Amino acid sequence: MGQFEVSLRLVVTGKIPNAGLEVLRQAGFTPDAWMNDTAISRQELLEKVKGADVLITLLTERVDEELLQAAGPQLKAVCNVAVGYNNIDVAACKSRNVLVTNTPGVLTDATADIALALILMVTRRLAEGERVIRSQTPWQWGMFYMLGTGITNRVLGVVGMGAIGIATARRAKACGMSVIYFSRSEIDSKVATELGAKKVSLEELLKTSDVVSIHCPSNEATHHLIGATQFAMMKNSAFLVNTARGPIVDEQALVNALEAKEIAGAGLDVFEFEPKINAGLIGRDDVVLIPHLGSATTQTRDAMATLAAKNAVAIATGNSPLTQVS
Ligand code: DGY
Repeated sequence: MGQFEVSLRLVVTGKIPNAGLEVLRQAGFTPDAWMNDTAISRQELLEKVKGADVLITLLTERVDEELLQAAGPQLKAVCNVAVGYNNIDVAACKSRNVLVTNTPGVLTDATADIALALILMVTRRLAEGERVIRSQTPWQWGMFYMLGTGITNRVLGVVGMGAIGIATARRAKACGMSVIYFSRSEIDSKVATELGAKKVSLEELLKTSDVVSIHCPSNEATHHLIGATQFAMMKNSAFLVNTARGPIVDEQALVNALEAKEIAGAGLDVFEFEPKINAGLIGRDDVVLIPHLGSATTQTRDAMATLAAKNAVAIATGNSPLTQVS
């Protein structure tokens, strides 16, 4: 490693697992890392990024024109420790020749596990049942007590058939569901055959599915992809699950649809104005709400930090990153 590369300034803007920091150190860098458990404030962030050659960012940090300017013209790359990169203004980075990388692949299974968990939780009323026990509400087994909806022989509609959509479909198929999907891109024909999955229009998917699970990226094209019109198309007995990004769903329209019983329930890991939650969701028993846990396993977070750090090292040493955002 030449002296030039090692003297580069690598800034880690949020606390990441040691596995990632170790990759940076092993490559000879001394990262300037935010080590507090609480997220860095915007003001502190703008200060910290000054003079950075490479930024390693979390999804809670907005990387926009202001931040790029604060960093300075020497900035080479922004390496996000997430597969989603809606926190980054990619066009602004591109216009400054700043590379952007993300962490695809390493969180596929963890996120698909959470999608399946939400499907089961919301259809079988598990969170509601747990609240009964924890609140010490009197209860007794009964033939008609807290009946849910079985998912065997039901239809899962996957919106966005990328790696996480496919992994969720596999899990749902193992539970006896059939799969249809709406996606920008074609999937591998072997995977389509394995899953027996049929590509349909969004409208057909919404009208046919018993569970609609969101897995597309969040961008201008998918903002409020699911809103009042789409809820009106869904079956009254259908459920919505979102483990992708909050803004893909119009959260107020979701509250209205639940209130009007246009759909039966929702399982949400992500929220439109995260970490704020629409007040209309809080008291409802027909929704399961969890705090963005899709990739939250120790192993997955280690792998995410490691991949982001490898991208940073590759760029800092003049090599191609492993997972550049196109
Ligand atoms: C991601 O990587 O985009 C996930 O949402 C993080 O949990």
